[in-house]
Amino acid sequence: MYCLSSAFSPKDPHGGSLPVSGGGLSEDGRFSYGYSSLCGKRTSMEDFYDARISKVDGLIVGLFGVFDGHGGSRAAEYVKHNLFENIVKHPKFVSDTKQAIAEAYKQTDSDYLKTEHNQYRDAGSTASTAVLVGERLLVANLGDSRAVLSKAGEAVALSTDHKPNRTDERQRIEEAGGVVMWAGTWRVGGVLAVSRAFGDRLLKKYISAIPEIQEEMIEDDMEFLVLASDGLWDVVSNQAAVTLVQSISDPEEAARRLCEEAFRKGSADNITCVVVRFHHERE
Ligand SMILES: *[C@@H]1O[C@H](CO)[C@@H](O)[C@H](O)[C@H]1NC(C)=O
Ligand SMILES: *[C@@H]1O[C@H](CO)[C@@H](O)[C@H](O)[C@H]1NC(C)=O
Repeated sequence: MYCLSSAFSPKDPHGGSLPVSGGGLSEDGRFSYGYSSLCGKRTSMEDFYDARISKVDGLIVGLFGVFDGHGGSRAAEYVKHNLFENIVKHPKFVSDTKQAIAEAYKQTDSDYLKTEHNQYRDAGSTASTAVLVGERLLVANLGDSRAVLSKAGEAVALSTDHKPNRTDERQRIEEAGGVVMWAGTWRVGGVLAVSRAFGDRLLKKYISAIPEIQEEMIEDDMEFLVLASDGLWDVVSNQAAVTLVQSISDPEEAARRLCEEAFRKGSADNITCVVVRFHHERE
């Protein structure tokens, strides 16, 4: 996926590619979602996302994800096309969703590494995913894309970025024989600025694909969830994102406004935002 113009501005419909956006509503009306993606000030797109509603054993399931590639887009594209399939077809998807997600992440990573043999050896991808099953919300992450919940207007991070200088991450990397070095930012082996990711064949010993997973019950004070790549979070705080989205009822419009805000604030990165709004009975 490529941006048509590196001087692309989302405010200028004639200046290049428009932001990609879309959205939908679950058939039971319990949640709606929107996404938006734009290339920021770079020329090629390495951010991918997926937003879909499936049925598993008669249950309505929402699946949302942001996948931010590095070293090319190959790994992010692969994850987009395979991760959710692997999650919903896991035999324990309904009975033990958390385990199903953990194993699907692992499987997706090892399948990717097998499929790609010796090619794209530097390609990798973050993942920030949210799975909605009944009253449960499960957020999983690898890397520095982030999930933030609005709980009565207050931003609550549902994931902790996997940065190489996080104390526990640094320790894990060093125990595996790796090093964390400063090169503009903290990097594994002086190269990679995230400590967990899909792919990254050359650094796989240190770059874990085991996600951290948080499970929450959906409660009445939960308004919406934002998933986004670091193109947003580098320039917009968790609380600023929540405050901006709060007044916009259409999640597609909200996702678009978040991306535009990041672009306006000078984000040099690819920017992808997904907004999932929960609809409660009393609304
Ligand atoms: C965004 O795209 C550019 C250009 O391909 C790429 O170099 C960069 O790594 C991407 N952003 C991230 C966070 O991977
Ligand atoms: C990691 O490094 C960044 C600067 O790149 C710094 O802002 C952050 O506080 C550091 N985190 C830890 C846990 O040391």
